[in-house]
Amino acid sequence: MFKIALLPGDGIGVEVTNSAVQVIKSVAELFNLEFQFKECLIGGCSYDAFGTPLTDETIQCCYESDAVVLGAVGGYKWESLPQNLKPEAALLKLRKSLGLYTNIRPAKIYKPLIDSSSLKKDVLSNVDFVVLRELTSGIYFGEPRGLNTEHGFNTMIYHRDEVIRIAKQAFKIARERNNKVTSVDKANVLEVSQFWRNIVHEVHQEFKDVALNDLYVDNAAMQIVHNPKQFDVILTSNLFGDILSDIAAMITGSLGMLPSASLGDKYALYEPVHGSAPDIAGQNKANPLAAISSVGMMFSYSFKMKNVGDLIDAAIEKTLDDGYRTADIISDGGMLVSTNKMTELVINNLKDIYKK
Ligand code: IPM
Ligand code: MG
Repeated sequence: MFKIALLPGDGIGVEVTNSAVQVIKSVAELFNLEFQFKECLIGGCSYDAFGTPLTDETIQCCYESDAVVLGAVGGYKWESLPQNLKPEAALLKLRKSLGLYTNIRPAKIYKPLIDSSSLKKDVLSNVDFVVLRELTSGIYFGEPRGLNTEHGFNTMIYHRDEVIRIAKQAFKIARERNNKVTSVDKANVLEVSQFWRNIVHEVHQEFKDVALNDLYVDNAAMQIVHNPKQFDVILTSNLFGDILSDIAAMITGSLGMLPSASLGDKYALYEPVHGSAPDIAGQNKANPLAAISSVGMMFSYSFKMKNVGDLIDAAIEKTLDDGYRTADIISDGGMLVSTNKMTELVINNLKDIYKK
């Protein structure tokens, strides 16, 4: 039996997590698996209930799970709270508490959506890479940090063991893909980046079968929109990964499509890359595909059932191929459907493809 901690969060997080659960339940039925769900608060809703965006109970619930499925956090209502009470602070604390140092954000182009990207078709065909972002260190967590009336400051720091473990992940993931790692840094300016680069090359000695190249982050940003086909695994630090993964998401056409996995040595968390979209929350309009696709990653990475991950992907692709679209990805000729309808269509396709 698998234990899932459900953290729907705020806004559309609630709706898309509901879709994710429905998909997990259908998979359970098809493959004779058993799941136990436990739901906890995170983000603004937790602040409203308990005065903090992340309680110890929620962290404990995650410690007791085989995988965490998260929706999204945040909303207008909580924007003016102090930094440490903002919904976003909960995400950072949860990543740190669960030791989720590896963040995988795939940039996969779904063929039926190729026209909704702002890039030209020929630039995009066959694009398939992942951004591997270090998630529990770097400038997001470095000390000292502070803010007063005279200055604001942060510290970008990486320790040897932190770079070694994420670099190993990158090379291992590349071996399962197209055997190429591009390490992104700013070694022409920052000591911390020169250090990163040195360690990545050291680790590479154990993975000589994998190709490795380095790019400065400004060049990498440019290359992702200029020639994204060149990438397989982009390995980078916390802040650079935050930025590059949004660029990577947008070239695929919609932020509403992209899943993510955050992995540590003990715990794993799956969430859509998109936010809580308070403007459309509760209206049954949100795109559930990123959340559903995150469930696919959960089966592949946490439960070692890549066949299920592939099946979920195929069901999403078929649904798009049939012309169904939520509002964020609608284009000429597409059929507009709600969150619930999209979920139902994906599940039907999942069952059909499985039977074949
Ligand atoms: C992300 C988000 C978060 C981050 C925010 C919400 C704290 O932008 O997951 O990419 O910066 O890591
Ligand atoms: Mg971000």
